[in-house]
Amino acid sequence: MASATFAIPPKRADPEKQNKMHQIEEKEFVEEMRGVAMKLHTKDQAKEGEKEPQGQPWRKWEPSIEGYLQFLVDNKLVYDTLEDTIVNSSSLYGDFMNTGLERSEALAKDLKWYKERGHTISKPSALSVSYTRYLEELSMKDPQAFICHYYNFYFAHTAGGRMIGKKVAAKILDNKELEFYKWDGNLCQHLENVREKLNKVAKCWSREEKNHCLEETEKSFEFSFGLLELMLA
Ligand code: HEM
Repeated sequence: MASATFAIPPKRADPEKQNKMHQIEEKEFVEEMRGVAMKLHTKDQAKEGEKEPQGQPWRKWEPSIEGYLQFLVDNKLVYDTLEDTIVNSSSLYGDFMNTGLERSEALAKDLKWYKERGHTISKPSALSVSYTRYLEELSMKDPQAFICHYYNFYFAHTAGGRMIGKKVAAKILDNKELEFYKWDGNLCQHLENVREKLNKVAKCWSREEKNHCLEETEKSFEFSFGLLELMLA
């Protein structure tokens, strides 16, 4: 008598589990970007920083108002460039339009406020001009590197940038809270949404492209620290 064969039915994937796995996978690339960025901090800037502190500790920084306004002008130029690039190359970077992290308008309001009170608003520094030229070039030729600068510039401002802003406001701005440090809506949610978008974009990248993106982090720190240093000049 022929024996009956029992085929083991394939295990049905648990949709909830699959969704969770998918989310873990989705978190991965931003976690990598963050890991590289955190190591480039000095030990006195962040717990995860690995570099030895050098120069004056940031908590002791006391820029002049002019120095700080220069920092705002330079940041505005960089944010204008990032935000214009994203709008004008919507086919490449369209996901990053209207994320809630945009800073150009907020900076325009702050600079207007100071101008109306008689402060001179100087021109962007040579460093910020060359940084924006570099970003424009990357946006056309090297999307992985462009995304690296995008991530670091926006996320740095919501982390260490806010800490610096608070310290400076207490020391030289009579605790005035600048628009630059205020976001409409829920900032944590905006950040989380952008993390998801970054993960989604990186999903289409090869390992080499991902590494190339991560390798650009150092350059991003160089430019940003350069702009911070100018604030103290
Ligand atoms: C996160 C401080 C400059 C990029 C952080 C965190 C701290 C910090 C404390 C950790 C926040 C957490 O607990 O998750 C500082 C200080 C700086 C500085 C004091 C300068 C004096 C920079 C620069 C960049 C940068 C120049 C790059 C342009 C980042 C990024 C994160 C971060 C990408 C991760 C943010 C996130 O996970 O949401 N920073 N930072 N930081 N920083 Fe900085």
